[in-house]
Amino acid sequence: MNDADLPTWTLDLAQLFNASWAVLLPQSVSNRVDARLATLATLGADGAPEARGVVLRAADPARCTIDIFTDASTRKCAEIATDPRAALTLWREDVLLQLRLRGTIAVIEGPQAQAAWAGLSDRALPDYGVTPAPGTPITAPDAYTRTPDAARFAILRLTVDTMDVVSLNRPTHSRAVYERRDGWRGQWCAP
Ligand SMILES: Cc1cc2nc3c(=O)[nH]c(=O)nc-3n(C[C@H](O)[C@H](O)[C@H](O)COP(=O)(O)O)c2cc1C
Repeated sequence: MNDADLPTWTLDLAQLFNASWAVLLPQSVSNRVDARLATLATLGADGAPEARGVVLRAADPARCTIDIFTDASTRKCAEIATDPRAALTLWREDVLLQLRLRGTIAVIEGPQAQAAWAGLSDRALPDYGVTPAPGTPITAPDAYTRTPDAARFAILRLTVDTMDVVSLNRPTHSRAVYERRDGWRGQWCAP
């Protein structure tokens, strides 16, 4: 490989930003869950961090939002109601990018969530309606039921305020931090 073949998109702030949003678009990858899996962190009831795996369902680069689906009875929804600040982290092996996003989450339920509910597969529907509520202690591993319940379906819409991108592409590992408040201009940082 000569220098002309080396990737340059990781060395340009605007191109790296656009590539990062492309990574966040669920439709940009196959249906594989692992490629759409991210770690969502919120603040627990005791103020300590809580992190869990979630699947990216939609992204809107124009509004800088990302959608995750959840059961409205999960603890994270109560945590977000108390403090909407959140962080989302993912690693995409195919493009060697780590994204660390920070922002605030709005919980969308009821009529505004109906279109997304209607688009769920039959297999996914029972994920929204576990009884007793997720996280409740039970007497045996199977002592719960799963009944689809539209009233339990919620969209977690993260509005991104900062994006910290690390590229492990060679020859130069690069890192840039982008902020909404300056129009996502971007700032290179030591990786
Ligand atoms: C591969 C994988 C994907 C998951 N995707 C989601 C998801 O999209 N939404 C969700 O609420 N929970 C998802 N979960 C379950 C969460 O990690 C977590 O266990 C659950 O939401 C309860 O979290 P909470 O008690 O912190 O609210 C997923 C778990 C795994 C292992």
